[in-house]
Amino acid sequence: MARSDALDGRVAVVTGASSGIGAACARELVGRGAAALLTGRDPARLAACIEQTGHPGRCEPLAADLTADGAPEAVVARCVERFGRLDVLVHSAGIYANEPVERATLETFDRQFAINVRAPYALTCAALPHLGPGASIVFISSVFGSVGLAGATAYCATKGAVEQLTRTLALELAPRGVRVNAVAPGFILTALNEATLGGPTEARRAVEASTPAARIGDPGEIAPAVAYLASGAASFVHGATLVIDGGWAAQ
Ligand SMILES: NC(=O)c1ccc[n+]([C@@H]2O[C@H](COP(=O)([O-])OP(=O)(O)OC[C@H]3O[C@@H](n4cnc5c(N)ncnc54)[C@H](OP(=O)(O)O)[C@@H]3O)[C@@H](O)[C@H]2O)c1
Repeated sequence: MARSDALDGRVAVVTGASSGIGAACARELVGRGAAALLTGRDPARLAACIEQTGHPGRCEPLAADLTADGAPEAVVARCVERFGRLDVLVHSAGIYANEPVERATLETFDRQFAINVRAPYALTCAALPHLGPGASIVFISSVFGSVGLAGATAYCATKGAVEQLTRTLALELAPRGVRVNAVAPGFILTALNEATLGGPTEARRAVEASTPAARIGDPGEIAPAVAYLASGAASFVHGATLVIDGGWAAQ
């Protein structure tokens, strides 16, 4: 594949495309020339995301709960049926539960692992027969894949697992020319944290005060890194995690 950051002719699947970081990734990839199967649970917000790409003719929506049996396989089948191939997987679907361990339930532990870890693994496995030389898989990890956060033990464990999926799949898939990498965002304002960081809250002030860039980030500041990792410009990047956090984790 040419060492360019263009994605013309490439076909991507983006999960979590109905919101936040996944929606921004969809806009960025399609804006750089890719066609994309965009998936999330909410059909109306998926449709809005497709309009926002500016190229609805190069997008195909599929509303699905990725934790449901058969859903990852259905996503891959629809993508190949519509576009004839699959070159890029962006795993952005995810949930976060703030739940101090004294009150935490195994139900929320399982739910976070089901969507944050099991679903991207299952989707990767379903896509494997279609991923050839030059293909790229990008996980959305978190700074909390390598740093703990009190009150979010299960979430942090899911992101630690994502970091290991990234490294280990990179080793397993490099021989077939498939690259696997991750982006680890810091605090990015999306629906995931709107309730705590959306206004002038104490939590927001604390995040801003502890971030060298002195602000929280925007999904549009994550998407270009995902597009880079998806492209031929990253042809020698395997098993890496790119931290994008305004300097938060450098301290
Ligand atoms: N925001 C941050 O500060 C931050 C920081 C580090 C890492 N991250 C990670 O970035 C990723 C995207 O998060 P975000 O901030 O963009 O959150 P978001 O705006 O809440 O978006 C989450 C997306 O995941 C989808 N999703 C959730 N459960 C699903 C399921 N069972 N099946 C299919 N899709 C499902 C949602 O679909 P519907 O809305 O249609 O249900 C939505 O599209 C997550 O993996 C998150 O852990 C976020």
